Amino acid sequence: MRSLLILGFLAVSGCAVETVTTAPFGDNIGGGGGINPAALQAFKNGYYAFSQSQGCVTCHASVVSPMFSSSNLTAAYTAAKSKVDFASVGSSVLISYVGNAHCSDSACSNPALAGTVQGYLESWAAAEASAPSGGGGGGGDTGGGGGVGVVTPAVPPKHLTAAVALPATIPSINQAAVPVRFLLNAMAPAFPALNNAVAELEVQRLGPGQYRVTRFKIAGASAPVRITGVHVYVRAAAATGIGVEDVYQGNLWKNDVLNVAVIARPNPLPATPMNVAVLETLALIMPAQSSADVLTIGFENIENP
Ligand code: HEC
Repeated sequence: MRSLLILGFLAVSGCAVETVTTAPFGDNIGGGGGINPAALQAFKNGYYAFSQSQGCVTCHASVVSPMFSSSNLTAAYTAAKSKVDFASVGSSVLISYVGNAHCSDSACSNPALAGTVQGYLESWAAAEASAPSGGGGGGGDTGGGGGVGVVTPAVPPKHLTAAVALPATIPSINQAAVPVRFLLNAMAPAFPALNNAVAELEVQRLGPGQYRVTRFKIAGASAPVRITGVHVYVRAAAATGIGVEDVYQGNLWKNDVLNVAVIARPNPLPATPMNVAVLETLALIMPAQSSADVLTIGFENIENP
């Protein structure tokens, strides 16, 4: 009934309206209808593929709303998007509904998948934030993914840590994160109050080709300092240069103003993440560069507050 009405309206108005209907797993994603193509791609590769493979599709393609598994990708995207608050993906029903036994299929009772879904939603949220939506047009192929929106500053931040290798095995999104640590006496140029301090990032693998980097901390400052503008770079250990920053989000931490308190540096440093105050909880989504990557942190400014 509804579609008949819409068709009738189109016939009367006579406008040329482009309808974007993409077959599942097709490669051609148009930018019409105000949907950000990077966001649609992130949805398709993440939550959509997940819902297709996990059995949600039996109900949520055409039987039960929300129809986030619809064979019409843009309809599925719109249905799923209405259930996500991108400012706070962690509280989404798309996460709680993988484990709340809301249907009798095993698909609805696997709380262990909540972390996986959260990772998909974070990638998707990052993509939503990547580029202006709206404006229609721009149909075409979103291409090979990686590199979307990566911003590398012409002038690197003033202070750079030494590059630190990522561990050979990085836990996936539904496993506990691994700490990656930067000794700040090796920062160039050093900052005296941070000479005994250690900075930490918690890292997980977010699907193929991406790292999730979050929960930035500093322990061991000898006096309070204020840090303005944080950048994290990834590059292959064998490569030269500083590397690239987070995908999609345009360097999410660059506007940070962090007040680093005097916190004792755990001794010895634990194998798991340090249990100290977290300075930044937003997650960067970093594009993997090789099978042996290194991270570098840059600070635009460090000062005595
Ligand atoms: C056998 C059918 C069935 C399957 C399979 C199924 N669901 Fe559902 N789903 C429902 C029904 C019925 C509702 C509406 C009732 C409710 O909200 O509990 C629903 C509602 C939902 C909602 C809506 C919440 C809201 O606030 O509107 C989400 C999200 C959801 N399901 C996710 C999933 C996911 C993810 C899967 C696969 C892992 C899945 N469902 C598999 C039947 C199913």
